[in-house]
Amino acid sequence: MNIIERLDLLFVNRPKQGEARRREALSLFDALSLPDRPQGLEIGCGQGIGTRILVEQYQARMIASDVDAGQIRLARERLADLGDSKIEFRECDARSMPFDDGSFDVVCAFGVLHHIDPGWREAVSEVGRVLKSGGCFVFIDWLMSEKVSRFIQKTITDWDVVDEPMLKEALARNNLAIEMFESERCWLGLLQKCRGVACKRGADFSTTENGKRPGALRGERSGSNGSKSSAPGTCRE
Ligand SMILES: C[S@@+](CC[C@H](N)C(=O)[O-])C[C@H]1O[C@@H](n2cnc3c(N)ncnc32)[C@H](O)[C@@H]1O
Repeated sequence: MNIIERLDLLFVNRPKQGEARRREALSLFDALSLPDRPQGLEIGCGQGIGTRILVEQYQARMIASDVDAGQIRLARERLADLGDSKIEFRECDARSMPFDDGSFDVVCAFGVLHHIDPGWREAVSEVGRVLKSGGCFVFIDWLMSEKVSRFIQKTITDWDVVDEPMLKEALARNNLAIEMFESERCWLGLLQKCRGVACKRGADFSTTENGKRPGALRGERSGSNGSKSSAPGTCRE
């Protein structure tokens, strides 16, 4: 992990930042119709914000995973009050995960893909593999603006940069249909903060026992490839 990533971790693991991300993540999960007691996976869990929400609000059984043993220790500490029975902690690389195909109703990744350099596309492919048909991928991330991304690709060829078209293409390639995608330009338009939900298409796109289809969005947020973006601004973390 490079120095910038270390600094980023110090920043995101502060309680204030955690609370902001928690609120943002909650609004994404709230838009979903999840089955009862879903099986969930958080990748790049850090302090485990997604894991906490899914256990507390949806009675999920979770695997909280991260490539960094230190982050797994942090997640154990921060989630200790939830007890061990519902959460398994796993040190693993999102580019090659030790889970069977079709294991999860929901996978979340908050601020992770842009850290997976190189190989964020492999992580998206793994998410597609481990999701059940109809299950959904819930994400928040920082993307490069297209202009900056093109510049980086020309000049720093070993930086596996991620921008919005690339992310959307990787999701589509892995059978993950975008149900919601919002992005906000920030840092003078150099970066984009995005949040979204993409659900795995498949033969078994049926309802669950409680009549809910995993991955279906509720209410007016539902829709195919719903994209929304806003003008440059000060992005809140
Ligand atoms: C910016 S932190 C975000 C942490 C947490 N999700 C949050 O929202 O506070 C990025 C996390 O991704 C993890 N990460 C980086 N590369 C990874 C990989 N290849 N596989 C799994 N996790 C990875 C880092 O260890 C770090 O915990």
